[in-house]
Amino acid sequence: MKIMVINGPNLNMLGLREPSIYGNETYAALEKLIHETCAAEGIEVTVMQSNHEGAIIDAIQSALGNYDGIVINPAAFTHTSIAILDALKAVALPAVEVHISDITKREPFRQISYAGLACVKTIAGEGFDGYRQAILFLKKNRRD
Ligand code: DQA
Repeated sequence: MKIMVINGPNLNMLGLREPSIYGNETYAALEKLIHETCAAEGIEVTVMQSNHEGAIIDAIQSALGNYDGIVINPAAFTHTSIAILDALKAVALPAVEVHISDITKREPFRQISYAGLACVKTIAGEGFDGYRQAILFLKKNRRD
């Protein structure tokens, strides 16, 4: 099984940005957790982060035919990007949306998730562990 993990804008600033919301652990620590989880589960993984909407759309498109599923934290683009929603719909791969914080309990503008409309599951408010849960969910619900 092969999955792509896509992280949106400002997630490269983890550890520095708003630690009371996102914690003290760095983006490198998040990548390590993802790689360790996938290695333990026998899953091949590509992890990417971009601050650019178009690069995220390119990554989603490139997953078609090459990956069995997507884990995506579109970060702020979650709440704005119909283009990312359309890309997820276009490739129609099983996708799980992850948010480190619980977006349902934050500002009203974070209550809308466009990307989530194309995802089979949303995991929010579980910290970095949400990524591990998303990977395990994709493995358990793998389409053959
Ligand atoms: C986030 C939540 C978003 O609202 C925010 O813009 C982020 C991170 C999260 O992981 O909790 O950048 O996606």
